[in-house]
Amino acid sequence: MSRDLFEAARAAMAFAHAPYSRFPVGAAIRAEDGRIYTGANIENISYPQGWCAEPTAISQMIMGGAKKIVEMAVIAEKLPLCPPCGGCRQKIAEFATAATPIYLCDETGVKQTVALSDLLPHSFKTDLLG
Ligand code: THU
Repeated sequence: MSRDLFEAARAAMAFAHAPYSRFPVGAAIRAEDGRIYTGANIENISYPQGWCAEPTAISQMIMGGAKKIVEMAVIAEKLPLCPPCGGCRQKIAEFATAATPIYLCDETGVKQTVALSDLLPHSFKTDLLG
């Protein structure tokens, strides 16, 4: 992975709206168009209505016209490694493959690289897309 993806995730974290958890998270996706799409967690006073950094980045990617996550970086200010939560794993899987690398980062860089299939083995799939 080139360092720009990590740096984009770290920079995205500064945009977190996390006044309730005080737990900022940043995510960055390199998509098939070569562009980087970023996201941060956005919380809500009605707590369950908030959402994670990963779906913010996915939304940016989709609205930017891309459809495939080539690689993704995730970082949290207050955790040495922040593996995506269960719901995020399913959301990532919609636009990635089993082999898609997910980089778990701290503030200095990538600490661990995992494949999506490591995070979400035996994932739910159907043939609805043909
Ligand atoms: N959070 C993320 O943004 N991504 C994850 O994968 C795990 C959790 C956010 C949700 C909430 O705003 C805060 O971290 C504390 O749970």
